[in-house]
Amino acid sequence: MIYDNHNRPISYLRLAVTDRCNLRCFYCMPEEGIKYLPKHQLLTYEEMERIVAVLAKLGVHKVRITGGEPFVRAGLMDFLHRLADIEGINELTLTTNGVLTAPHVADLVKLGVRSVNLSLDTLDRERFYQITRRDELPAVLKTLDALLNAGVQTKINAVVMDGQNIQDLIPLSELTRDLPVDVRFIEEMPFNGEGSHYPVLHWTHRRIIDEIRATYPDLTKLPDPPFSTSNTYQIPGHQGTIGVIAAFSRTFCGTCNRIRLTAQGTLKTCLYDNGVLDIRALIRSGASDDELTAAFLKAFSLRPANGFEAEQKRDVVTESMSTIGG
Ligand code: GTP
Ligand code: 5AD
Ligand code: SF4
Repeated sequence: MIYDNHNRPISYLRLAVTDRCNLRCFYCMPEEGIKYLPKHQLLTYEEMERIVAVLAKLGVHKVRITGGEPFVRAGLMDFLHRLADIEGINELTLTTNGVLTAPHVADLVKLGVRSVNLSLDTLDRERFYQITRRDELPAVLKTLDALLNAGVQTKINAVVMDGQNIQDLIPLSELTRDLPVDVRFIEEMPFNGEGSHYPVLHWTHRRIIDEIRATYPDLTKLPDPPFSTSNTYQIPGHQGTIGVIAAFSRTFCGTCNRIRLTAQGTLKTCLYDNGVLDIRALIRSGASDDELTAAFLKAFSLRPANGFEAEQKRDVVTESMSTIGG
């Protein structure tokens, strides 16, 4: 296992396979979409496979595929099969918006994917359209059904937005009554691809929990798994759990075990850095595996103790979550 300069293990890679998406969630990107990368600027699947193999040797054992929307990229399932075969990768998982996912669920299970995070901010078709600018709720619900029927451990990610989906907090929480899902409410972060002043957070993790507790006074705090981004709760008697991710008002830096690779092959050792290493350039200039390893080790030795604080001092935010990979 490799530790960074602050003694945090690096064991979790978030790998964005594309910057494209088939939804246009307004908190993530503007209506016309973001300026997508031309194809030659994306890492190829072969390049990604090589990078993961190098990182696996350094102790990364969990890979989360993100995007954009991973299933928008052709050939994803073949790639996942190859990743699942890499020695040392014992947890392969995905974050998806669920629009194209349902038909692939059986194959995901076959290749060993045991958990999936599904982005779903509302159960109301009209509000889904308002938020994502696409009428795709039925397809997403089909994916949710398929995941649960296949026994995949499913987390629902719901970004909480003032004036948009507050009325969904209770219906989404209610899903946990009969379904073994983890519904996680996420504080909205200012990564929407449009230059804007640093926004005010209306719905903090505390306010979200207070709102849920008003309906379910017995809401009970559960212990959190190590390295978890969320605080977990349960309504007694319910099958699933409720979580809150304080993505904006709190820092997870102290226990941060994750690194990110963007679709164009930039390494981020913190959600808030602008990329610390151009792996694509390194690979395309003919670097050996040893050279890649050395470059990774150097980057891991220079991680900020708290990238979050620096971010909070900036007053304008222009990035899109779709480019970062969440
Ligand atoms: P698990 O493996 O299930 O713990 O997934 P996860 O919560 O790491 O990943 P997911 O893709 O479901 O992301 C959920 C939310 O957490 C998204 O809004 C992410 O942007 C946010 N998130 C993930 N990692 C970080 C982080 O390092 N810092 C902050 N502030 N937010 C993060
Ligand atoms: N704030 C918080 N979460 C966001 N996501 C996308 N954009 C934002 C944002 N601005 C979430 C998606 C997805 C996860 C990877 O990131 O809902 O579930
Ligand atoms: Fe697509 Fe996810 Fe961004 Fe929505 S939040 S536009 S589903 S990448």
